Amino acid sequence: MFIETCIAPVNIALIKYWGKRDEELILPINDSLSVTLSTDEMCAKTTAAAAASFKRHIMWLNGEEVPFEQNPRAMRCLKEIQQLALAKEQLKFPIEWKLHIVSRNNFPTAAGLASSAAGYACLVYALAHLYGVQKEELTAIARQGSGSACRSLYGGFVRWHMGKSNDGTDSIALPVAPCEHWQDLHVLILVVNDARKKTSSTKGMQLAVETSDLIKYRAQYCVPQRTAAIVDAIKNHDFAKLAEITMRDSNQFHAIALDTYPPCVYMNDVSHAIVEFVHAFNKAVGEVKLAYTFDAGPNACLYLLERDVSIVLAAIKNSFPNDAEQSVEYVKGIPIACDIGEKNGFNGNATLPINNKNLFKYIIHTRIGKGPQRLGKSESLLDSSNGSPLNN
Ligand code: DP6
Repeated sequence: MFIETCIAPVNIALIKYWGKRDEELILPINDSLSVTLSTDEMCAKTTAAAAASFKRHIMWLNGEEVPFEQNPRAMRCLKEIQQLALAKEQLKFPIEWKLHIVSRNNFPTAAGLASSAAGYACLVYALAHLYGVQKEELTAIARQGSGSACRSLYGGFVRWHMGKSNDGTDSIALPVAPCEHWQDLHVLILVVNDARKKTSSTKGMQLAVETSDLIKYRAQYCVPQRTAAIVDAIKNHDFAKLAEITMRDSNQFHAIALDTYPPCVYMNDVSHAIVEFVHAFNKAVGEVKLAYTFDAGPNACLYLLERDVSIVLAAIKNSFPNDAEQSVEYVKGIPIACDIGEKNGFNGNATLPINNKNLFKYIIHTRIGKGPQRLGKSESLLDSSNGSPLNN
């Protein structure tokens, strides 16, 4: 049996990918740009194994068997990797051998956070190692699992270039700057209580391309300008500029969701209260120290600098009180010494949009991080004696 185990990070876009020009190859209508988050707090972990005794491809995700041979996106990723391996003529095992794949996210799926990006990036990275093709261009393959997954193959800031060709060979992700470039860029994810069923990203963007006029304007005029400007902001460590572009792009993406017919509503009242909170906070401190962005759901991803984390958390706790806030489980991830102070000019008692309790499930504190990593045999999620998932 041949086994590989890898981890891959989550990424959160500053400039959103929304809309495809080719549904099958997953080719986007605009460039996008993201921050890769540290795998210490959130990651997908995947073990892929090949053996002569396996009867069919099987995949387990978070302990449950999920369709693999019936999943065209997963099969496409596998076929592409196998083709690269065949072309190299360095196969370690016969190409016909079936696979057992076990994947887990180390963050709750219930959080509704972008798990498909980390999941497909990890699958492709693990398969590439298994078939011995890890030095090849993998982002164009991960892209075919889930568009945003291509950006999780690098750490730091990553740009997915939409490309021009019809076969997708130039639709690839490339690093803009490694995580070391901006080490003190931190992230607070506010996981919002919400039970509504959302339209999936895949469906939402398909409907938007079909029905929204605004999406064409964004892809053609706004994104190219914004992407160039945010790359400059990253190069110059200009947080205020990065923050403004990020917030504007999030707002425009959700405007397009509403411009879709029938409309897709991803943010809820709590999300909108967070938006007001961030603007009120920045105004109170007289500087743009905090940025929000929302994907296809109500949870907020806040970007800020490390030195501001404690004052921001204090402000969040003042404005969004939670019965659970004293518990260690409420703020997960990197520990924070909470600092309720007015030294930076923010008055915790300022009038804020709402004062309801318990609006968040919890908060995750993380930072910018590195790309995928290959792990040793002892980290396997698979029982190598019979190829079944381990119960851990
Ligand atoms: C709002 O990558 O999940 O998170 O390519 O159809 O699988 P598919 O969509 P997906 O869309 C992500 C959309 C987004 C924005 C982003 O990550 O850029």
